[in-house]
Amino acid sequence: MRAIVTDGFGGPQVLQLTDVPDPAPGPGEVLIAVLASGVNRADLLQRQGFYPAPPGASEIIGLEVSGRIAGLGPDVEGWRVGDECVALLAGGGYAELVAVPAGQVVRPPQGIDLVSAAGLIEVAATVASNLTRVALAGGETFLVHGGTGGIGSFAIQYAAALGARVFATAGSTDKLALCRRLGAEAAFDYHDDWLGALLVATAGHGADVILDVIGAKYLDANTDALADDGRLVVIGLQGGRKGTLDLGRLLAKRGLVTATSLRGRPAEQKAAICAEVVHTIWPLFASGAIKPAQETRFPAASVAAAHEHLGSGDAVGKLLLTWA
Ligand SMILES: NC(=O)c1ccc[n+]([C@@H]2O[C@H](COP(=O)([O-])OP(=O)(O)OC[C@H]3O[C@@H](n4cnc5c(N)ncnc54)[C@H](OP(=O)(O)O)[C@@H]3O)[C@@H](O)[C@H]2O)c1
Repeated sequence: MRAIVTDGFGGPQVLQLTDVPDPAPGPGEVLIAVLASGVNRADLLQRQGFYPAPPGASEIIGLEVSGRIAGLGPDVEGWRVGDECVALLAGGGYAELVAVPAGQVVRPPQGIDLVSAAGLIEVAATVASNLTRVALAGGETFLVHGGTGGIGSFAIQYAAALGARVFATAGSTDKLALCRRLGAEAAFDYHDDWLGALLVATAGHGADVILDVIGAKYLDANTDALADDGRLVVIGLQGGRKGTLDLGRLLAKRGLVTATSLRGRPAEQKAAICAEVVHTIWPLFASGAIKPAQETRFPAASVAAAHEHLGSGDAVGKLLLTWA
């Protein structure tokens, strides 16, 4: 098969499309003929050597794909060769074929183009599992940082569908407007005083739940932004991994801080999350309550351009690699 491999760690130029041996599905796995691969920020980190594949996972970059079943390993039920599918991966997605535990493979949502479906499951699984973990409820106030990225575009729509009051941060006027079109009540430029603006917009209440992709740099401000009984869930460390947490402020608010990573979770947990996504999220796509994020497609051979674009900060929504 053709796959994108890395020639050392570094910039997008280390990504190379080349021939490698086909993977074979093991017990409980299916083989997928990939139609499209989602590109995630984590892929840029892995390319640079900062985010190695978990033990046992493919060294090939790529956390999600769409395609058709091309083969079945022993002990797999419920799938036939040719079935359309979407898969959540620990790695191996930048390739024409990928072998994956069947529990991480689901049918695409109804009415969604199969190429677009490649960019749905990583963000849906991440956001849904975390908002379930911190029990975001209708009527609560929700803040997501980076409202027009892959995570943010989905999180705004999903939180709005849950009936939350949604606020977001973003880095440009155009992106602030897009946050509002996606369903945010207001959006704040993160170069300015987003904390002050949030407190004004919520009449001093703050956010009941914050979904944070920045980490250390925002730990202090996020703690200040929490409402009483508020929950901060950190899923990204773009602003560093080590910060100082003011426990005095946190305990005065009865606040909760949690952090999770999807990639390294055991296959059984990922299977349970995928089942949750099919049950709770796919119907929202099928009904049009949530739309796939704005997307930009690149042929797989142009993977370096895709990584350049995501790394530039100009990207909006999801980037996809397509396989002819
Ligand atoms: N823990 C997990 O399981 C998990 C799973 C998936 C993703 N993630 C993480 O989630 C993060 C987002 O992933 P993604 O795929 O959505 O990436 P993405 O599409 O590249 O989006 C990155 C977002 O970060 C925003 N951002 C950058 N600097 C910011 C700042 N100072 N303040 C507020 N927002 C800022 C960007 O906003 P602008 O475009 O407006 O600048 C953009 O919306 C990444 O760190 C990724 O590793 C974690």
